[in-house]
Amino acid sequence: MQTLTMHVDAQGIALITLNDPARPMNVVGPAFIDDFIEAIERVATDPSIVGAIVTSAKPAFMAGADLKHLMSLFDAGVSRQQAFALSRRASVEMHRRLETCGKPFVSAINGLALGGGFELCLACHWRVIVDDPKAVVGLPEVNVGLLAGSGGTQRLLRMIGVDKALPLLLDGKSVTPQEALALGMVDAVVPATELLPTARRWLIETPNPVRKWDTKNYRLPEGAGLLSSSLATTYSMNVAKVGAKTFHNYPAPIAILDCVFEGALMPFDKALTVESKHFARLMSGPVARNIVRTNFVNKGLADRLARRPEGVPKFDARKIGVLGAGMMGSGIAYVAALAAIDVVLLDATQEQAERGRDYSRKLLAGAVERGRRDQASADAILARITATSSYSALADCDLVIEAVFEDKSVKADVTRQAEAVLQKSAFFASNTSTLPISELARQSDRPERYIGLHFFSPVDRMPLVEIIVGKQTSETTVAQALDLVAQLRMTPIVVNDSRGFYTSRVFQTFIHEGMRMLEEGVEPALIENAARFAGMPVGPLAVLDEVSIELPWKIVMQSREALGDAYDLPCSYDVMRRMLDEFKRPGRRGGGGFYDYPEGGKKRLWSELKSAFPPVAPQPSVDEAGKRILYIQALETARCLEEGVLTHAADADIGSVLAWGFPSYTGGTLSLIDAVGLSTFIEECERMAAAYGPRFKPSAWLRERAIRGHLFHAVAGHASEAVA
Ligand code: NAI
Repeated sequence: MQTLTMHVDAQGIALITLNDPARPMNVVGPAFIDDFIEAIERVATDPSIVGAIVTSAKPAFMAGADLKHLMSLFDAGVSRQQAFALSRRASVEMHRRLETCGKPFVSAINGLALGGGFELCLACHWRVIVDDPKAVVGLPEVNVGLLAGSGGTQRLLRMIGVDKALPLLLDGKSVTPQEALALGMVDAVVPATELLPTARRWLIETPNPVRKWDTKNYRLPEGAGLLSSSLATTYSMNVAKVGAKTFHNYPAPIAILDCVFEGALMPFDKALTVESKHFARLMSGPVARNIVRTNFVNKGLADRLARRPEGVPKFDARKIGVLGAGMMGSGIAYVAALAAIDVVLLDATQEQAERGRDYSRKLLAGAVERGRRDQASADAILARITATSSYSALADCDLVIEAVFEDKSVKADVTRQAEAVLQKSAFFASNTSTLPISELARQSDRPERYIGLHFFSPVDRMPLVEIIVGKQTSETTVAQALDLVAQLRMTPIVVNDSRGFYTSRVFQTFIHEGMRMLEEGVEPALIENAARFAGMPVGPLAVLDEVSIELPWKIVMQSREALGDAYDLPCSYDVMRRMLDEFKRPGRRGGGGFYDYPEGGKKRLWSELKSAFPPVAPQPSVDEAGKRILYIQALETARCLEEGVLTHAADADIGSVLAWGFPSYTGGTLSLIDAVGLSTFIEECERMAAAYGPRFKPSAWLRERAIRGHLFHAVAGHASEAVA
């Protein structure tokens, strides 16, 4: 047995200690399941063993499923039957066997126990947990598009009741030991030193425990099905809630509701079969695969700097300069100070710089007020930020991040002033959201040390940084920029230089398409709802009002100036022009845009919008409008890959989900194409090109990929392609 040890003491109590030597945390994978089944059989069949305690040698008891293993199953195209068999092995051969083997099992939960780890605890006859708020427990499988498929849903509902179980299963929320005790998810909370003695005492006192659902005539106290009046309300309320939250793009919450509803009506063993069936459906469908791939496996690889050039010594930023203490600069200064980096925050005047530093002061004061941080640590963090208007303060910085106005000449000016005092070894980064990095680098005395670090707003809540590699940027600079992002505990993607890079460029297609629909006569409410039903966090018109229509307009003007006739005006050019020139409605901060913002009231679509852009008949279906919004973004992403702006499909997916909230059920912009199937995607784009315009026309490169059956990610035997 590799993943656990078993020691039987003089009283015949077996101590099973989970301790996977290959991993920092114990996880549920095939090796563990084999080992644990073997351990259960020994306890069950060895007459000298009276019962078993399960604990862990690691700080955590056990995390959930081994996501890497899950991914390998997804990539191998796991079928519904195979997924069902996997669930049954863990559910029946492992947990149910443990529960019915005739010997008592206690879990002594010494740390966090989540997902499959907590399902194991639920299967044990008794649970004692350490009194440590970090030792959280729960069933968060819904967050990866799955459900607890080893008996978790069925045991939880029978232990704590449908009412309390459903929110935990549907939100995937974990709870502290004290909360778990109050809910009935664990039986005792004790200090660490008492964990094993308490477990041992219970075992000796309870030689033949039987779970209540295995007793004769067991019924759920609150009843089951729709005949139970209280449950009928619970189910219908939750169905409505799930619908409103997910727009039915995520099958897991509904599968969980099904499992609980059906399972509560059945004897326990039958209910386990139902659970496995639902689990198998989720596991063999696209959504769990997409979420696990992008949000967990590939994001994890990005966080561990999978894209870092090799052979460059690790870089540790001690002190950074931030030029421009506006919205972005002050946010960057805050996250750097939080990461224990000293910051010189520079603006044109001392007063403006101080105002930028006040941003951190405000956030830190909030954290102190909410009890998340003590005053001393807040003071220490704030003390790391020096506000100044003097360039000489930058002399010993390891790097500088420029976040002044989006204006080439202002950027050139501050770059020259900073580099005049900056040590030669330091690198220089621009936080520009649209200006080509290679062009900005021309103003630098160290173009090979010049790079784009594109943060998102608000910096402290947006975990992504888009690293933009200019034509001359050296590998050392890329490696050091990646090290900095890791130091800031953020997720990097690496892209090549182009106008708008990757994220801004694709995001623009979303808002332009929304405005274009308006111009074509699509009802504004339909546009907004279709985007949200498709999974976008906010409709395109509402987003435009937030960022202001002036922003994309400025990008269009700059691009036209830079590229002249080579620049194709966006499909929404006239809408922007009319909103700004004719109606003087730039957005929320400008007094209103596509929406009105009545004081003290809720925003509503601008009352004149329909006379400005009259709706036509017939209207497109919500599905068609939603598809149009997602496909234009996916297509533009494919173009970025074709042009080499993106080099890895994983960057595209992670960037789209984290930067602008492209729906995670799709796995991101390129995973969406894989899930739809490239040939189908191309056919649909052709159809849309005929209906809506040539911007939907797929390129020869994309067609060629379709002919070769070349997916962006590996699935079912297709070769994985990381590099385009
Ligand atoms: P902002 O207008 O809030 O801040 C710019 C700051 O730069 C101001 O405090 C201004 O006083 C200062 N500044 C201007 N000229 C200066 C000079 N010569 N010397 C020193 N300081 C000077 O702008 P924001 O939104 O923070 O944007 C900054 C940069 O970040 C821009 O390049 C923008 O494109 C980019 N960006 C903005 C995002 C956003 O959501 N606002 C997102 C990502 C990037």
